[in-house]
Parts: sequence; C-alpha cells; structure tokens
Amino acid sequence: MKISFVDPSDAKGSLAVLSFEDDGLSSAASAVNDSTGGAAMRATGASRFRGKVGQIAEILAPGGVEADRVLVVGAGKADKLDRDALERIAASAVKRVLASGEKSLTLRLDGVKVSADDAAAAGVAAHMAAYRFDHYRTNLDADKKPSLESFQIAVDDAAAGEDAWSRYQHIAEGVSLARDLVGEPPNVLFPAAFAERCQALEAQGVEVEVLDEKKMAELGMNALLCVGQGSRKESKLAIMKWMGGDNDEKPILLVGKGVCFDAGGISLKPGDRMWDMKADMGGAAGVTGAMRAIAGRKAKVNVIGIVGLVENMPDGDATRPSDIVKSASGQTIEVQNTDAEGRLVLSDALWYGQTHFDPACVIDMATLTGAMVISLGQEYAGVFTNSDTLWSGLEEAGKNGSEQVWRLPLADGYDRLLDSDYADMKNIGGRAAGSITAAQFLGRFIDKDRDWAHIDIAGVAMKDKRDDPREPVWGTGWGVRILDRFAASREK
Ligand code: BES
Ligand code: MN
Ligand code: ZN
Repeated sequence: MKISFVDPSDAKGSLAVLSFEDDGLSSAASAVNDSTGGAAMRATGASRFRGKVGQIAEILAPGGVEADRVLVVGAGKADKLDRDALERIAASAVKRVLASGEKSLTLRLDGVKVSADDAAAAGVAAHMAAYRFDHYRTNLDADKKPSLESFQIAVDDAAAGEDAWSRYQHIAEGVSLARDLVGEPPNVLFPAAFAERCQALEAQGVEVEVLDEKKMAELGMNALLCVGQGSRKESKLAIMKWMGGDNDEKPILLVGKGVCFDAGGISLKPGDRMWDMKADMGGAAGVTGAMRAIAGRKAKVNVIGIVGLVENMPDGDATRPSDIVKSASGQTIEVQNTDAEGRLVLSDALWYGQTHFDPACVIDMATLTGAMVISLGQEYAGVFTNSDTLWSGLEEAGKNGSEQVWRLPLADGYDRLLDSDYADMKNIGGRAAGSITAAQFLGRFIDKDRDWAHIDIAGVAMKDKRDDPREPVWGTGWGVRILDRFAASREK
C-alpha cells in the first residue's frame, strides 16, 4: 500500500473525516457534510456514534461527492488528539476499507492541528493496519484479499508531511520486517536463515557480521552455545552496525533474544500452545526491525544491534539440568532448567557487545519469562534498569512510539536467589518474582557503571486480543518503534 501526503484538493478515493467527541465535525468533515446534504450528521446520528477514537460511521455511495464511501471517524476529545489517537484513527480507517474492494482512501487531517511528525506517525499506523502475513496461504478467496492500494493523508502542509514521511516510512518498514520474522515458522526461520535476513540490511548501509559456532567457541561463549547444543541447526550471533553519528560517539547497544524455537530443551515444555514459541525470537526481531528503521532514515547516531540466534531442542546431545557451563565473561552457570535459556543466550551476547563496542548504554529486549505475561499482560512491557536516565528515556520513547513500558525493580535480595551451591550462579531463581530474577541474572553480565535496561516483551510480542487496529492477529513486531524513538532522542 502506497502512502503519501497531499493537499486537501488532491483527495481521492474514499474519504475519511474526523468527528470529535465534544466538538463534533472537523472543518473538512463539515464541508463533506454540506456537500452531501447532511449525510455525515445523519449517519452519526443514526448509528450510536459518539466520536470515540477509532469509532466509525460509514456512508456508502453518498450523493454530492465523488467518493464512493465516506467514513466519519471518531477522534475523541479535541484537546486530547495526541499521536496515539491519530495513529488509531488512521489505522481504524484503513482496517475498515482494507479488503472492501476500495483501492484508494484519503484521510482528511487538514484544518486539524497536527505536526508533520504526528501525521507521519499516523502513516506508520496505517501501514501497520494494512500488514498481513499471507505468504503461506495458497487458496485465499479473491474477495478476502486486500484491495486498498493507496492511502493519502491530506494535511495543510503536504510538503512538510512528505518530508517527515521520508523518514517515518522506514519505521513502518522496520515494523513489517519484525512482524515477518516473528510470523515465519521455525522450519524456515532457523538461526542461519535469521542471520541472512540481518545481512539483507546491508542494502540500507548497515554493516553486518555473523559469527558461527566455531568462532563463538573460540571466544568461550559457552552459555549461548549450550542452548543450541541439542539442535541440528547451527547457532549464530549477528552483529549489525549503524554508524550515523560522530566517530568518537559511543554507540547505543541493542541486544535481542533470538530463540528461533523454544521447545524448552530437556526441561521440555508442555505441548499446549508450544507453537507460540516460534515467537521466542521476538526480541531479536524487534532489534533487527529497529536497525532497519534507524539505518533507513539515516539517523545521526551510532547504534549496534546484536542478536543471539539459537534453537532450544531436546536431544541426546542437549544440555542437561545440572550441567555447569562457563560463560564468555568467565562466570560459571549451573543450568538447573534448560527452559530458562534466553538469559543464557543474552549473557554471552551482552558480554560480546560490551567488550567489543564499549557502548554508552545497553538495552536488551527478550521474550524472557512467562511470569511477565502474568504480571503485566499484553498491555505494557516490563523494564528493569540500573539507570533513572535510561528509564525516563525509554518511558518517553514508548509514548512517542505508542509502545507502553512499566518499570519493575531490581534489588540485591532478588539477586541472591540465583546463588548456586556448585557454580557462580544458577539459571533459575524459583517461583517467586520470576521476571525479576531473570533480569537479575542478566545484570550479572553487565559491566559495573554501565547504563543498562532490560525489556521483557513476553506479554506484548504476540497477542491474541484484537482491540488495537494497528496490530495483526498475533506477532506484533513490538519494540521497533520504542527503540527507534529512543535512538532518535539520542541524535545530535
Ligand atoms: N520463552 C520463554 C518465556 C515465554 C513464555 C515467553 C511464554 C513468552 C510466552 C522462556 O524461555 C521460558 O521458558 N521461561 C521460563 C523460565 C523458567 C523455567 C524459570 C518460564 O517463564 O516459564
Ligand atoms: Mn524457555
Ligand atoms: Zn525462551
């Protein structure tokens, strides 16, 4: 679907116009209402329309205008029209006509006070709403296929909109990339295949290096390697570099958990919904998508993205509960549960990034714990950090990118739960505070005085609820936008 920013006079196809909860029709909506002999007001009056964000009253074949369809879209309270509301408005309008047979839709934001960046963010949301993962369907009915080919946003300053979109379109592409990665089945997207998708970012000017098992063994990355030990698929570490900032500027380091399938290993998971674990590379997908966005818009900032790619399978050669491995940092780990594998992968990936790049800050992202789903559900991702600055940066970036985060604690008392009788630590801390002890485990691999945040996205990487028009049925591609906005906040 092609997205562009146009003058109101260039509106084409179906029209979407706004109606506010308290103030009624926007100026563009009023004009349409007048041309149609009051059809917009009649439609809202006849359909319990209250102007809630994303609510739609649809008028088919109205008289007096060329458009085959007018959507009156609820815009909420006029003084609360923020970026998130604009995004939901654009996404709902697109969702409504996506497979309706209509080929073109114009959203009229002219006459409404919106910044070019917010209008461009609405474009991202529209792109997200149009996203589908249909690659493996061979018999989709013709009338179920998307028909919408172009989406225009009419604004007062189309040139400024286009200019912002020239950057924001890369965020949209980044989200699609992350969703594609999450959607791919693990027989297709195994570690080496994922690494190849990272390498494709070279087209955007990203420098990509991929380490194989031999190289990682030389580096002593046994914590990561022990996870893939029972898999036929070779483990990989992909390193993506975008150096858009000054030479002497320390990079932001992003690290993603890329468990292409998590069967649990010898601590085998129950079969129920085990298929969800094809998304256990959601953190790596988010990091890769963010790199796509950051490089695509040529951000003036240095960012390194590292993804630890493995498959966690049961096998005669697989790591056993009670095995002790020595991580690249030198610390030893008693693996009491092979299903707590994400932290093992991340510990070595975090070590690699810190020792090789001396980053200004480290942010890791992972579908790390089921406990996260229990505590915050599918609304907020949990953030664990040793830095108040990093926390406020992420909270703000979350708001600007419409991905919500909530801070949870780190503390010595939790850390002690990881002490082992046989090694420097064990990889599980017991039933209590499962997401926090997982974060504490990662914290043991963070250099002293290094700003670090861990984002547990187990609850938000895949969703079964369907109340957000920007989200597809399952793999959300969560993290691209918050990481991109965080990087943007550190641009010169
Ligand atoms: N990938 C899972 C966590 C997960 C569960 C993500 C559900 C998304 C949805 C992780 O590797 C895992 O298995 N964690 C265990 C840790 C436990 C053994 C300490 C868990 O959460 O049960
Ligand atoms: Mn697991
Ligand atoms: Zn896992």
